[in-house]
Amino acid sequence: MSADKYYTLAEGCPFASSSTAVLMRNRDGGGLGLLQDTQLIETLAHFSRERIPERVVHAKAIGAYGEFEATADCSDLTCASFLSEVGKKTPVLLRVSTVGPEAGSADTSRDVHGWGMKLYTDEGNLDWVFNNTPVFFIRDPIKFPSMNRSHKRHPRTHLPDANMFWDFHVGNPEGIHQLLVLFSDRGTPRSVRFLNSYSGHTYKFTQKDGSFKYIKIHIKTRQGVKNFTREEATKIAGEDPDYMIRDMFEAIERKDYPSWDVFVQVMDPSEAENYRWNIFDMTKVWPHEDFPLRNIGKLTLNQNPGNYFADIEQAAFSPSNMVPGFAASADPVLQARLFAYPDAARYRLGVNYQQLPTNAAKAPVYCPFERDGKMRFDGNYGGDPNYVNSSLQPTRFYPEVKGVSQNSLSLHTEHEKWVGEVTTYTSHMKKDDFVQPAALWEVIGREPGHQERTIENIAQSVKEVKSPKLRDEVYDLFGRVSLDLGTRVKRTTEAFIKK
Ligand code: HEM
Repeated sequence: MSADKYYTLAEGCPFASSSTAVLMRNRDGGGLGLLQDTQLIETLAHFSRERIPERVVHAKAIGAYGEFEATADCSDLTCASFLSEVGKKTPVLLRVSTVGPEAGSADTSRDVHGWGMKLYTDEGNLDWVFNNTPVFFIRDPIKFPSMNRSHKRHPRTHLPDANMFWDFHVGNPEGIHQLLVLFSDRGTPRSVRFLNSYSGHTYKFTQKDGSFKYIKIHIKTRQGVKNFTREEATKIAGEDPDYMIRDMFEAIERKDYPSWDVFVQVMDPSEAENYRWNIFDMTKVWPHEDFPLRNIGKLTLNQNPGNYFADIEQAAFSPSNMVPGFAASADPVLQARLFAYPDAARYRLGVNYQQLPTNAAKAPVYCPFERDGKMRFDGNYGGDPNYVNSSLQPTRFYPEVKGVSQNSLSLHTEHEKWVGEVTTYTSHMKKDDFVQPAALWEVIGREPGHQERTIENIAQSVKEVKSPKLRDEVYDLFGRVSLDLGTRVKRTTEAFIKK
């Protein structure tokens, strides 16, 4: 407690001690508690209610504040205010998480690492809810809950279960590209400071006239990508399950501020129509030879949370938080996410979660048509009209609501026809689906020992699969990337089983 404050209960009433129970004492020194002991009752009652629901995915995390600085002229790409001048700085909150395991789990577990980033821009909050991998396991959003359950605990044994993990992926092989990334060294990053992050999805940069470019965002660590080997990650998981939290907290405390360069790949809508890869398919990247990286900014983390629960646990990120100049594409997984995150926040934090200080926009907020609800704690817009089109007190609108996605839809009817056709695909596999994983396998091969480590990482997991038939199906899946890979995964797995 700071020196200028004295202890009170939550209603502000001062107390002489924080630990004295009010008892009716008997002569032997024993005593009975009394209902008038408000301090004891409040203290116990509040403790029982300290927990809020853990995020169903991405529960274990590390977070910090910082700033995004625009580093290049982007006026040909977007009218977004946070990119309007070189040197313009925007405050940022970042939360980096593992996906499957619970809040108390080891943060060096092999897993995709999520990247929840809130840019508190002067035109409202923009959230970049990314991963440290440029692709994803699925391209049909309805599979998301199934995919995550297969990565978590078995409903009967309550144990992580390699049988259901591989059974899901053999049955839904479109995730092969992401599986290769996950079982490579990149599945065990050395800490938040040493990982990259990617939008994965295609988004849009939009202009005031409604024209737009498709983009993918890449955030690249200035500290260099560094990963643990499986053995290192496992050892640290046992010795210090909070290794990544500690690493970042201590770096920021000693003013060794981690930073990243932010890039975009830019594609014209007309190019999208003829491009080899479906730009709304999250299992695909846009090779850099086709669409080079263009620098737009720099991110620096320079402030630890003042309180983990208030700043990081109560943070709510959503791809639906977009500012003028930035819009969602028609990627069906992204479209589903635009619904899922605010829905999750309303359940996890309550309907007024946007008022919590860590989520509140730094731009002025005037949203009088969303009223009341549990835990409303701003002025609730006083007596302003709570219905639209009031003639008594007309609503004022922002003079330049620009680059909104609705405009871009109406201005590009021809393109939208194409979008409609492309997004009706289902997630059945085509031969082409193995082309990018095969290219990645070659890239992995350029670094000495990396293919061997990746194969051993896969085999360590597949050896836990009980059914020989399912194991054969896993070898076949990797064999479709490269026959050699399939054979080596089989050989290594069988050697591990014999040991
Ligand atoms: C259909 C697909 C997906 C659905 C339905 C979905 C849903 C969710 C849900 C419900 C949460 C927990 C939110 C909360 O309780 O606050 C979450 C967290 C998260 N998701 Fe997804 N997700 C999907 C795909 C993705 C993809 C493709 C990415 C990355 C490109 C991603 C990145 C994240 C991140 C970074 C978090 C943690 C956010 C935080 O720090 O609070 N998700 N997701």
